[in-house]
Amino acid sequence: MLALRSTADLLTWRTSLAAGTTIAFVPTMGYLHDGHLSLLREARARAGAGKVVLSIFVNPTQFGPNEDLDRYPRDEAGDFAKAQASGTDVVFCPTTPEELYPSRSTWVTVDDLDQHLCGRSRPGHFRGVCTVVCKLLMLVRPDVSLFGQKDFQQLAILRHMHADLFLPGEIVGMPIVREPDGLALSSRNANLSAAARQQALAISSFLAQVRERFSAGVRDVATLLGDTASALAPGKIDYVEVVDALRLAPVNLIERPALCAVAAFFGGVRLIDNTLLTP
Ligand code: PAJ
Repeated sequence: MLALRSTADLLTWRTSLAAGTTIAFVPTMGYLHDGHLSLLREARARAGAGKVVLSIFVNPTQFGPNEDLDRYPRDEAGDFAKAQASGTDVVFCPTTPEELYPSRSTWVTVDDLDQHLCGRSRPGHFRGVCTVVCKLLMLVRPDVSLFGQKDFQQLAILRHMHADLFLPGEIVGMPIVREPDGLALSSRNANLSAAARQQALAISSFLAQVRERFSAGVRDVATLLGDTASALAPGKIDYVEVVDALRLAPVNLIERPALCAVAAFFGGVRLIDNTLLTP
C-alpha cells in the first residue's frame, strides 16, 4: 500500500497510471470502522485489477466553530493496517489542511437540499463537505466513488453536485453497517462513555419501532413518530423528522419513499441515524 501525503504526489501517481486503469475511491475522515471497511471491500470488488484509493482527511471546513474538530478521533497507524487488510492500494492522507486548501476562497454549494436536517442545524457543513469532495474527485478522477447511506443527506447532496458539475465517475451508495446491538457504526462512537453508548441504543430502537408501525400500515407521520422525546430520552434531540427521500423536505403523510432521520446528542456526542420507509 502506497501512502501519498501531498496533492502533488497524488497527481503524479494519478498521471502515471496506464489509461484504462479502473479506480474505485472511498473518501473518509479516518478512524476506520466496519462501515468504512464495507465501502473499501466494495471498492476492491469494483476496481477488479485496478486501484482502490482511500482518502483520510479530517476536513476542517465541514466543522462549525463550536463543533468537535479538536475531539475528532484519529489513529493513522490503525487506519493504515485496516486499509491494507481490506485491499487498499493507495491511501491519500494530506499532512496539512493547506494541501487541500491552498486558499479558502473557492467553495462549492448545493442549494435547497441543504436547507433540511443536518444542513439546518449545521450551517456551512455541507459547503465544506461538497468543497472537499469536489477537490478529491478532481484529484483522484475515479471511475466509481463509494459513500454510506448512514449520511443520507450527504449522499443526496453529493449526487446533485456530481451531476451538476459533470464530475468524474459514478457515485454508489452503500447500506448502513451496525453493531450487533443496532448502534450505527460511527467514528464518533469512540467519544461515547460506556453509559452514553448504552443510552444511544435508543436511536436504533426508535427507528425499529417506526419501521414496525410503518409495516403495520401507519402512514401518518405524527402517529409513526409518537412521543419522540421519551423514545430518545435521555438523549438531547437535535431533530427527528420524516422527509421526502428525494427532496428531503418534511412530509406529514407518507405517499412516496420517505426517510425517517434522527440526530441526537448522547453524553455530548452528536449521533445521526436513519431508515428508509418505502410504501
Ligand atoms: P466519514 O464520517 O469518515 O465517513 C466516510 C464514509 O463512510 C461516508 O460515505 C459515510 O457515509 C460512510 N459511513 C460512515 N459510517 C457508516 C456506516 N455505519 N455504514 C456505512 N457507511 C458508513 O462522511 C465523511 O467522512 C466526510 O463527510 C467525507 C465525505 C469524507 C468528506 O469529508
